[in-house]
Amino acid sequence: MFYGGTLGLKIAEISALLLVLSAYVFRERASGFSGSDGATSDSGALTPIAREVLESLPDPILLVESSGRVILANKAMRALVGVDIERKHVSAVLRTPAVLEAVLRTAGTGEPASFEFMLHVPVERHYQAHVSRTAQTPNLTTLLLHDLTAVKRAEEARADFIANASHELRTPLAAVSGFIDTLRGHAKDDEVAREKFLGIMSDEASRMRRLINDLLSLTRIELNEHVPPSGIVDVVGVVRDAAAALAPLAEADKVAISVEVRGTIPSVTGERDELIQLFQNLIQNAIKYGKAGGGHVWVEIGVSPTSVPGRRNTLSMVSISVRDDGEGIPREAIPRLTERFYRVDVKRSRERGGTGLGLAIVKHIVNRHQGRLQIESQQGEGSQFTVLLPAEGAKQAADAAVTELL
Ligand SMILES: Nc1ncnc2c1ncn2[C@@H]1O[C@H](COP(=O)(O)OP(=O)(O)OP(=O)(O)O)[C@@H](O)[C@H]1O
Ligand SMILES: [Mg+2]
Repeated sequence: MFYGGTLGLKIAEISALLLVLSAYVFRERASGFSGSDGATSDSGALTPIAREVLESLPDPILLVESSGRVILANKAMRALVGVDIERKHVSAVLRTPAVLEAVLRTAGTGEPASFEFMLHVPVERHYQAHVSRTAQTPNLTTLLLHDLTAVKRAEEARADFIANASHELRTPLAAVSGFIDTLRGHAKDDEVAREKFLGIMSDEASRMRRLINDLLSLTRIELNEHVPPSGIVDVVGVVRDAAAALAPLAEADKVAISVEVRGTIPSVTGERDELIQLFQNLIQNAIKYGKAGGGHVWVEIGVSPTSVPGRRNTLSMVSISVRDDGEGIPREAIPRLTERFYRVDVKRSRERGGTGLGLAIVKHIVNRHQGRLQIESQQGEGSQFTVLLPAEGAKQAADAAVTELL
């Protein structure tokens, strides 16, 4: 990604400079270059076609003549520094001291410069700036910016992810190492303690295994997210299988699960294994975070007509909702639930063997199936997670409509 961006930048930079230079040549020849017109400003040398091409470049570009006046700021640059800046002196236009200094320095010495800087308002943005000056007179200085914000955010997200994953693995690993030392040391001949510690070590090892499996699953699903699923899946069967697999957990927690099917449910285009994983995650959460002892999990499957942006008619979606009667989720936590490792109550989730990756996996599976996930919750009154998946026939109709539009 980074290389692509840098290459794009270089191409844009080189093409911009070539255009500017060729624009000069063109003007000079057209006017016969008598040299008598020394008083005219450098800006007259820019042909309308050069202006038009520079204007359409996606990267912000600013051209400054030797007197320090701005002769061109393309659309992307005007979005940053404001409109009506042509003919103004560059020191009245650039408000970031490092950038202004670099432009003035290069304009004076001809030495090119390349550096990164940050803008804080209205939102934090990172840029790479390239400043260069034409070798021929009249000297034109070019400031070209390349937006690095997305690259920086991706780098931060990756660093956060690695820090979180290592932390999550380190905790059970530390417990296992601690108990190994204890078993070698003072608990060496204590049979009761040994059994107890081995039990804890086995739980911690399972936790690490679960975490690694979830991480691998998440990576696999993320890699495939752009590949549309190809199978045809009976959602009712999938939901019933997911609920059946969780019956022992529900029984241990004294939670009843009911599955209600409303009307005839069409099939969906999907990956059966992924959909099983999706509903197991949701039903497992409803059991874990539902009412402790004597709770109930309601799963309802139906068909709901849903409007699609850009289309006049509606699209049939299969709707599957998983509702519990637990404590619910604080309003401010709802938008963060699908973040990796996010847990409302870390201690409670850990006690229940949670890794905080379940809903991140759910979100990616829903995306891959071109579905939607809705989360509703009232504190003290339980939570409802609804997944909407496009029905088989309806999806084909929607794809056909998109093809027509293209
Ligand atoms: N039905 C629910 N009711 C209340 N809180 C919930 C519910 N479902 C999820 N949460 C909250 O969202 C958090 C994230 O859920 P998620 O499924 O991603 O992780 P987890 O259940 O902690 O771990 P994992 O699913 O990996 O075992 C949970 O820790 C819990 O705080
Ligand atoms: Mg979960």
